[in-house]
Amino acid sequence: MALDQKPAPNDLSAYWMPFTANRFFKANPRMVVAAQDMHYTAADGRQVLDGTSGMWCSNAGHGRPRITAAIADMAGRLDYAPAFQIGHPSAFELANRVIALAPDNMAHVFFTNSGSEAVDTALKIALAYHRMKGEGTRSRLIGRERGYHGVGFGGISVGGIVNNRRFFGNALAGTDHLAHTHLPENAYSKGQPEHGAHLADELERLVTLHGAENIAALIVEPMAGSTGVLLPPKGYLQKLREITRKHGILLIFDEVITGFGRLGTAFAAQYFGVEPDMITCAKGLTNGVIPMGGVIVSAEIHDAFMKGPEHAIELFHGYTYSGNPVACAAGLATLDTYAEEGLLTRAADLADVWQNALHGLQGLPHVIDIRNLGLVGAVELAPIEGAPGKRAFDVFLRAFDAGILVRVTGDIIALSPPLIVSKEQIEELTGKLAEILKATD
Ligand SMILES: Cc1ncc(COP(=O)(O)O)c(C=O)c1O
Repeated sequence: MALDQKPAPNDLSAYWMPFTANRFFKANPRMVVAAQDMHYTAADGRQVLDGTSGMWCSNAGHGRPRITAAIADMAGRLDYAPAFQIGHPSAFELANRVIALAPDNMAHVFFTNSGSEAVDTALKIALAYHRMKGEGTRSRLIGRERGYHGVGFGGISVGGIVNNRRFFGNALAGTDHLAHTHLPENAYSKGQPEHGAHLADELERLVTLHGAENIAALIVEPMAGSTGVLLPPKGYLQKLREITRKHGILLIFDEVITGFGRLGTAFAAQYFGVEPDMITCAKGLTNGVIPMGGVIVSAEIHDAFMKGPEHAIELFHGYTYSGNPVACAAGLATLDTYAEEGLLTRAADLADVWQNALHGLQGLPHVIDIRNLGLVGAVELAPIEGAPGKRAFDVFLRAFDAGILVRVTGDIIALSPPLIVSKEQIEELTGKLAEILKATD
């Protein structure tokens, strides 16, 4: 197409949308054109209450002036700084601020541009760490069924969502998976489920199978989000920590969703009282405004690399946009906003209201499970026979029309509003969802 022949603004054909039913979308577009605080504005002017923090990332809500101003200011002052062998102050400042929020054993941050990159970075650090220590046979990476660790080859290899893996060949060799933690006896759990700590013992089985000396790391989401909110049973994460420690296996918590206040603490590691060796984060790090992720590591891991000649690069890894100045400015302003408004603990204050509102949906048509933790919730629906996922997708479409944004995975409706949500907005969200469920076939 010639440059002067601009496509009409409503020509949707060129953009191949991610994780989207493209043909259906382009026949039935759902567009948002603005966002402020708890609401999106749809293209037709309707206000849509954000029940999912965008995609688990807009923790402080939308259009926050401090963040917008910081981005504009940095873009005007220092639009880009080379990421390798040159520094700029904001990256160091942001790393310090993240470490101040992280569990006590965490000491350094490696910046990436997304959660997927954070995961691949953490897996690479784990492999290289063992080599640095002279334990190079530790190359096996373990994840969990139904886990989501982004879409890089590392992430899909340790991930356990079948459709994210089945089309893409063999991915990384030498990965294995624990069983997921979703047990029928835990249906309608309020907070952490009672049953299932024993599922952590599967790790002992894999150690026996492969030999501890061949296993580099275990990566899990402390609370699995994208697969439809699967909660860790009481004692499960503690057991994983004990077993990994016993066998010299690194424990990586993928906190891309749970990081920055989703459960009522800065990180889920603190909520559960379990210190991993590495934490991956993204999303809420910049309130979703500018793409950014990070891997937070213990001093022990970082220090293992700090040897050899001082002029030599210690880790052959990084991105053109690692610690990008504009992203760092967004990150700093985001952390200021969280601190000023007490948002990192707000989910704890709202947890009871949230739990009651969600569990009030029990007994509505098609509902087979409801679960919640912090400011996260899921309503699982019985699938339509022969059309898995269709019922929840219909709910999603009706919800958008009715003015609430929810997320669906299979037949699970996931909810995770911005941490600025009011009690009235929680009632509005679950109230509208109840009406939609009543009208759903
Ligand atoms: C736990 C977890 N890890 C990794 C990712 C991937 O992050 P991104 O989409 O920024 O690559 C996600 C995204 O939802 C996630 O939930």
